[in-house]
Amino acid sequence: MDWGMKNRISKIINPKDGHTVMLAVDHGYFMGPTTGLENIKTMTDPLIKYADTLMLTRGALRNYIDPETKIPIVLRVSGGTSILNENNLLHEGIIVDIEDAIRLNVSGVAFSILVGQSFERDTILGLTKYIDECERYGIPVLAVTAVGKGLGKDAKYLSLASRMAAELGAHIVKTYYCKDFEKVVETCPVPIVIAGGKKIPEQEALQMAYDALQAGAIGVDMGRNVFQSSDPVGMIKAVNAIVHSKYKPKEAFDVFKSNKK
Ligand code: 5RP
Repeated sequence: MDWGMKNRISKIINPKDGHTVMLAVDHGYFMGPTTGLENIKTMTDPLIKYADTLMLTRGALRNYIDPETKIPIVLRVSGGTSILNENNLLHEGIIVDIEDAIRLNVSGVAFSILVGQSFERDTILGLTKYIDECERYGIPVLAVTAVGKGLGKDAKYLSLASRMAAELGAHIVKTYYCKDFEKVVETCPVPIVIAGGKKIPEQEALQMAYDALQAGAIGVDMGRNVFQSSDPVGMIKAVNAIVHSKYKPKEAFDVFKSNKK
């Protein structure tokens, strides 16, 4: 692995503890102005200091984030469908040329695959093409194992999708927490972060983050459970406490509750 790749990975995964809090606000590429992301700048400004990286689209980066920002960027580079296109949802391809990712000085890119859907091949070949381009420039690829309709978020499925992403060359895998999650981690040769998924009560989301870390995940790439929280700052502080300060769920929930006060 060349110096550049190692340097960029060190901006995504904190070398001090090998963990990461990635704030995901890339949802607009297929969900539009989803609740909480009506204005990405006003939402992320108070949150950035508690995150290791910001995951978003190039349009969000250019239009909402100051170029002087210090937070490392993980750029969403796959897309192509909207939430209206139910039958073809997440049938994604390349939406950002590697040259634009380089111009935007990103620390990493994110590409979704949809294992198990009829169009899985398109997403998988799109991922591998992007990995080949990124290897040329020393840019790490976070493979997102999206979960299509009718596909269960169980350890068997998520182990398959995560291991495929790693074998195809992804440097980091983002998947979902599930029962027996340690089985997903043990069979994946690259670091795993968990997405938060749909909004759930803060205490449950914190328990999930804690359980994922205990099972071997290196952190989270959380979006809706932060920016749709009743107190996004309190929530990301609490998630950060679990990921980087070894807080237990109850202690972290106290961080969340005390922030409001
Ligand atoms: C959507 C994504 C999101 O970045 C990912 O799901 C993380 O966000 P959330 O915690 O809201 O699930 O990749 O396809």
